[in-house]
Amino acid sequence: MSLQKKIEEVRISFRAALDSLTSDEKDIEGVRSKFLGRKGELADLFSQLATANSEEKPILGKLLNQLKNECSVSFEEKVRSFKKPEGYSMSPGEDYTLPGLHFPVGSLHPLQQILDEIKDVFKSIGFSIAYGPEIDDDFHNFQALNMPRHHPARDMQDTFFIDKNIVLRTHTSNVQIHLMENNNPPLRYIVPGRVYRNEAISFKSYCLFHQVEGLYVDKNVSFSEMKGTLEYFVKRLFGTDVKIRFRPSYFPFTEPSAEVDIWNEERDQWMEILGCGSVDPAVFENVGYDPEIWQGYAFGMGVERIAMLKYKIADIRQFYQNDVRFLSQF
Ligand code: PHE
Repeated sequence: MSLQKKIEEVRISFRAALDSLTSDEKDIEGVRSKFLGRKGELADLFSQLATANSEEKPILGKLLNQLKNECSVSFEEKVRSFKKPEGYSMSPGEDYTLPGLHFPVGSLHPLQQILDEIKDVFKSIGFSIAYGPEIDDDFHNFQALNMPRHHPARDMQDTFFIDKNIVLRTHTSNVQIHLMENNNPPLRYIVPGRVYRNEAISFKSYCLFHQVEGLYVDKNVSFSEMKGTLEYFVKRLFGTDVKIRFRPSYFPFTEPSAEVDIWNEERDQWMEILGCGSVDPAVFENVGYDPEIWQGYAFGMGVERIAMLKYKIADIRQFYQNDVRFLSQF
């Protein structure tokens, strides 16, 4: 066996001996002499060093010295830990046996945790992360997405208006437009962010929530590629046993469009978690991409909805109340 191998073996058996060492004097002396003594294992290794060839000698010597330092330091530490503290006098009125104070430690917000997971999955399959404005003009939030003024689909998203032309974005799809305006294809992005809707507040809807948008543009992109990607994503997040379905749907900016549901055991019903579809050629035209050359798919998911399903949270308002009893459960 090479000397290097022997050094490793001595290291392993020394650690094992140290782990099972008791405070018994005999035990301590036994380990000391077996490893660190004049005729101990380390001394033996040093004597074998003499016969090593001159090329290896300096390297092995260094390894051996490291091992020796390591062993003697951790041995002394261990022995010291057995000794009771000395010169320790208690003044009247002080009780050192009282338990210490515990300071509460914070944790990441459940939405942040889910967001991090979503980002990790998409990063691992080649998506980059982008962000865009929460206050945007009518063009980016609606018109460029194939929703001209008075388009009935605008009713799907009750909007907060800053003025006639400026809105709090109702979805992260506005960033699709910014990305395509500012970059040449191909594009592979996810866009996490906050969105706003003027909805009645209840256990299932709030005036603000979070979405993650996805946009994929390239040549020869198919709808089934999107299905595969989204199915992979849902399984990474909810486990491979999750029951999932694609249901035909409508969005003005995708054609064809679908929604993805996952089966919820507790409620005994399908729950929608995202909308998706192939990018509508009209959207490509609005940003100056040639739809004869480029295809793509887009999707948008509700982060709260996903967190509620994953963590079995019944009321969306709990995310925003900053109640430590709720937050500390995650
Ligand atoms: N923007 C849509 C919504 O908020 C979701 C979506 C995004 C659908 C991208 C299709 C493509 O409901």
